[in-house]
Amino acid sequence: MRIHFPVVLPAAFLLAAACTKAPPPVQSRLEEKFSERRDIHSYSNPTEVRVNHVGLDLDVSFTDKVLRGSATLTLDRPVRDKPLILDSRDLKISRAETSADGVTWAPTGFQVGSVDRILGAPLSVTLPVDAKQVRIFYETAPTASGLQWLTPQQTAGKKHPFLFTQSQAIHARSWIPTQDSPGVRVRYSAKIRVPAGLQAVMSARNDPMQKGVTEYTFEMPQPIPAYLIALAVGDLSFQAISKRTGVWAEPVMLAKAAKELEDTEKMVQAAERLYGLYRWEQYDVLILPPSFPFGGMENPRLTFATPTILAGDKSLVGLIAHELAHSWSGNLVTNATWRDFWLNEGFTTYFERRIQEEVYGAERSEMEALIEKQEVIREMADLPEKDEMLYVDLKGRDPDEGMTQVPYVKGMLLLRRLEEVFGRDRFDVFLRGYFNEFAFKSIVTGDFIEYIENNLLNHDRDLAAKINLQEWLTQPGLPAETPQPKSDALQKTEAAAKDWLAGRRELSSLPTKSWSTQEWLHFLRSMPPSLDANRMSQLDAAFSLTESGNSEILAEWLLMAIRGGYRTAYPKLDRFLMEVGRRKYIKPLYQELAKTPEGKSHAKKVYAKARAGYHPISAATVDDLLK
Ligand code: BES
Ligand code: ZN
Repeated sequence: MRIHFPVVLPAAFLLAAACTKAPPPVQSRLEEKFSERRDIHSYSNPTEVRVNHVGLDLDVSFTDKVLRGSATLTLDRPVRDKPLILDSRDLKISRAETSADGVTWAPTGFQVGSVDRILGAPLSVTLPVDAKQVRIFYETAPTASGLQWLTPQQTAGKKHPFLFTQSQAIHARSWIPTQDSPGVRVRYSAKIRVPAGLQAVMSARNDPMQKGVTEYTFEMPQPIPAYLIALAVGDLSFQAISKRTGVWAEPVMLAKAAKELEDTEKMVQAAERLYGLYRWEQYDVLILPPSFPFGGMENPRLTFATPTILAGDKSLVGLIAHELAHSWSGNLVTNATWRDFWLNEGFTTYFERRIQEEVYGAERSEMEALIEKQEVIREMADLPEKDEMLYVDLKGRDPDEGMTQVPYVKGMLLLRRLEEVFGRDRFDVFLRGYFNEFAFKSIVTGDFIEYIENNLLNHDRDLAAKINLQEWLTQPGLPAETPQPKSDALQKTEAAAKDWLAGRRELSSLPTKSWSTQEWLHFLRSMPPSLDANRMSQLDAAFSLTESGNSEILAEWLLMAIRGGYRTAYPKLDRFLMEVGRRKYIKPLYQELAKTPEGKSHAKKVYAKARAGYHPISAATVDDLLK
């Protein structure tokens, strides 16, 4: 007897026909080119043995400048007979143990391979067939690349020492023996013992009631890559901003910091309206001492931030919008390799613009977008072509080197282009879907392409044709279709600068009272590349720029002072270089100084004194510039 499936059969037939006959979508299989999942910056073997939980038990010794204790790693073992391979850098490993039940432990063999300048050394641990956990006893080096030990003198309060970690991109391995690859996510817990009077905080649940003790315990229940494991120890206090946001800082900074960051809750709410619930319970900001090498670092639940954002007028809190945005792009959906870094930073820069627009209005957000676009164009003028692509090739290089404005701003502009073409409503639906689809996952560029093909581009091939993804990802420069942010306010400051330079206008007639930081920056950048000392001194007399308390304006001004030979600002320049370790500021200053022989010798003189206070990451950058 024959059975008929009158409905099912034609459907199945159509499907088969579609698979064999229909021409492939224009960009189909594009994702394959961008789907390399192997992380060239890690020795680890997560496809064979994968760490899924890290348990830290560490003593913090300021006397020896070391962390000492153990890391207990819990494993998934898709392949049974392979050793566990971890990343390490300058770790002193004393022994390793394994356990099948977490109760009884037996010593096991381990081997540290040869050291690579960039990657550190593989640490291979022998695993009995039934081993589910490994415990490694170790001590960090005083020079660990992911740690900075500060003297009391380098802090705001001047009384207590300070320690902080900075693990991105590949520095977690210098203080934790683990699989230091962004494709490997772990939950973690920690017991941290500190000298009396100091507070420990981590990128984990921080209980502000846990204070005045010498052993702190932490739990991080959400899975994160190793580069987001973070610790700081110092004289720290907490002030709540809202139920779920707050600030940690040294007591003498706390009130100022809390005031400056009072819009944080508003930002979280704006972010949630845009792209879905905040999934990390608490959002706090830790204000670090000025040697912190970055502006901010998006450690989950606890953004680390430079004190140079405390301008007094909230003008630099865009940085908080940025680090907060990483709670979605970066921390929730993570680049699986450093080649895919633009997925973290490009999405975040776009998201940051949108949060700013919600909280401070489109005008401010547009100003920042315009300034950023200008900056990336300037930077690209000096970059090798291979570093101008979003899908950057980092073979043989330190991923910290890929840290140009390209992944940030070119990435943001690509998303803005998508918004422009598909309309904000559709694009926002797409982004919300993206964050949901890949929540708590690490993805490569190819995953993004596949997702956008299926969830946006294929829905409207005519619109999709207006975006050449391949070009954005693999060609230098900015595509012709790159969006152009517009700002009347910035146009006016530019005109004001030109008018003054041409003698058509007095400085005293400029409406500078109402200028934002962005307008000031744009005004200064509208000057010729090297403004002579006479002009500089007129500006200084009118606006006291050498005394500016705004770090962005000051850094720009000092750069101009070097270019124009404006010696009056040099004492301030020297003090700034001694005090501030933020790489974004000090790198261009040293770079500019190094362009002339006298400048270079001046730079070397200042650096000889300043270097000891710099973070290893900043010091490495300046070493390179002045060698
Ligand atoms: N995640 C980055 C910092 C980073 C990137 C550290 C790569 C190490 C390697 C952070 O989110 C960031 O981009 N910070 C910026 C500020 C931001 C407003 C552009 C910074 O530090 O300047
Ligand atoms: Zn970022």
